[in-house]
Amino acid sequence: MDLSVLYKLTYGMYAIGTLDGTRPAGCIVNTVIQVTSERPIVAVSMNKNNFTYEAIKKSGRFSISILSEAVDRNVIAELGFACGREIDKFCGKNFACGILDGLPIVKEHACGYMICEVIAIHDAETHCVIMARLADTLAGADESPMTYEYYHKVVKGKAPKNAPTYQEETPQAEKPDKIRYICEVCGYIYEGDITKEPDDYVCPICKQPKSRFKKM
Ligand SMILES: Cc1cc2nc3c(=O)[nH]c(=O)nc-3n(C[C@H](O)[C@H](O)[C@H](O)COP(=O)(O)O)c2cc1C
Repeated sequence: MDLSVLYKLTYGMYAIGTLDGTRPAGCIVNTVIQVTSERPIVAVSMNKNNFTYEAIKKSGRFSISILSEAVDRNVIAELGFACGREIDKFCGKNFACGILDGLPIVKEHACGYMICEVIAIHDAETHCVIMARLADTLAGADESPMTYEYYHKVVKGKAPKNAPTYQEETPQAEKPDKIRYICEVCGYIYEGDITKEPDDYVCPICKQPKSRFKKM
């Protein structure tokens, strides 16, 4: 079976916001789809290890911010590579946060917002597919929505192992002519000699220091 066929599927980029009690939680997903049009239902594929999954199961509600191409890269770093068990993600320190119907949202450079109420959770081994009914929507910035392809090709970002669309990096042997370094935290690939970067260089995706890069 040729699994590279899956790379041809297309996706968007979304921030999920929910509450663990009164504490905001959330993560990045690329797997939001509209399932029905009458009294619309949407679906999201969520890894069972995500703290966001636990919080959604308990609260039964979540927001979706549709990220635009101009979104602050800290949104993806903070929500997509760190775990809400360890840090407060929507604390307003690293990107602008807002509240819609009591749920945390990404305030700037989101093309629109959806408030969702869980109606079913279907098991999918490592993941669950959360089906939710739209309870509210709000229009956002008049900007192009970020696609998963744009995230990979222009932002040059990667997806962590929890993402259902995670892809292993191509082995170095297939690209022997380039020196490359990989960020151990988010998988961002730096092409060239990273030792020539200043000491305060940080990963453009997850903001980790140069010391977290390993030569490939
Ligand atoms: C580009 C991108 C796409 C992602 N897509 C998904 C997804 O569709 N489903 C999912 O469960 N996790 C996805 N993730 C991973 C979660 O955002 C990540 O594991 C996050 O740290 C979970 O945080 P939490 O433990 O606070 O919930 C994605 C991450 C990135 C960067």
